Amino acid sequence: MSRISIPQLAEKRLAGEPIVMVTAYDFPGARAAERAGVDMVLVGDSGAQVVLGHDSTVAVTTDEMLVLAKAVRRGTDTAFLVCDVPFGSTEESDAQAVATAVRFTKEAGADAIKLEGGNPTRLSRIRAIVDAGMPVVGHIGLTPQTAVALGGLRAQGRTAASAARLVREARGIEEAGAFCLVIEAVPAELTALLREALSIPIIGIGAGAADGQVLVLHDLIGVTEGHTAKFVKRFGEVGDATVAAITAYAADVRAGSFPGPEHQYAAAEDAVAAAREALAQ
Ligand code: KIV
Repeated sequence: MSRISIPQLAEKRLAGEPIVMVTAYDFPGARAAERAGVDMVLVGDSGAQVVLGHDSTVAVTTDEMLVLAKAVRRGTDTAFLVCDVPFGSTEESDAQAVATAVRFTKEAGADAIKLEGGNPTRLSRIRAIVDAGMPVVGHIGLTPQTAVALGGLRAQGRTAASAARLVREARGIEEAGAFCLVIEAVPAELTALLREALSIPIIGIGAGAADGQVLVLHDLIGVTEGHTAKFVKRFGEVGDATVAAITAYAADVRAGSFPGPEHQYAAAEDAVAAAREALAQ
């Protein structure tokens, strides 16, 4: 099967067929997403938190994101691969944003670049990347890279001013040439209005019904420890299963029952004899 294309994603929106997107940060995660048959894989900068252990997405660098993105590319065949550009890699100028997008496209084989924010400066970045020939996914609502400026990791679009700003940003992002928009942590009613106003697919996360949904892989498989956002649903308990497997392994090693005979290699008799002889010399 060939890779899902932008026109196919647009057709899904028109046909009312929900688009499934999930994040991945390494080869096994990408393989699992691919085998599960998702439409889009996002190398999210949430990897800063869920795989690199930072307490926000801000710290991750372009070089670190590229390592993750290249591994995900190797594991992705048919899913459309979107890569987040990290904080600091597009903020200085349109030229810097294009150079960063080129790295993700050339070095990691990204099909599209995802950029947070929709203020006039961010729209200029989107335009520049699209003009340079690289598809862009927008991201508005709760944008974790600028969460401090938003007053924390909190839902957006709940006041008149915030809702009006989101409408302006969403329209601006479509006009700037993005082919898809991620909307995070906004009231479902607002998402419904934006779906009417826009003609590009809207992927929601904590945004109610949309043309598609995205979740962070580690949240949905149950690896994330502690607090998760209201919009997260755990579809598995892989974290507990992993701890149980390592605990069982440790117990077997400590009891001397692992490795068993079935996990060992047999040596030819003369090899053992030769080793004994060498030791005796
Ligand atoms: O970084 C990420 O995982 C994201 C999704 C939450 C949309 O941006």
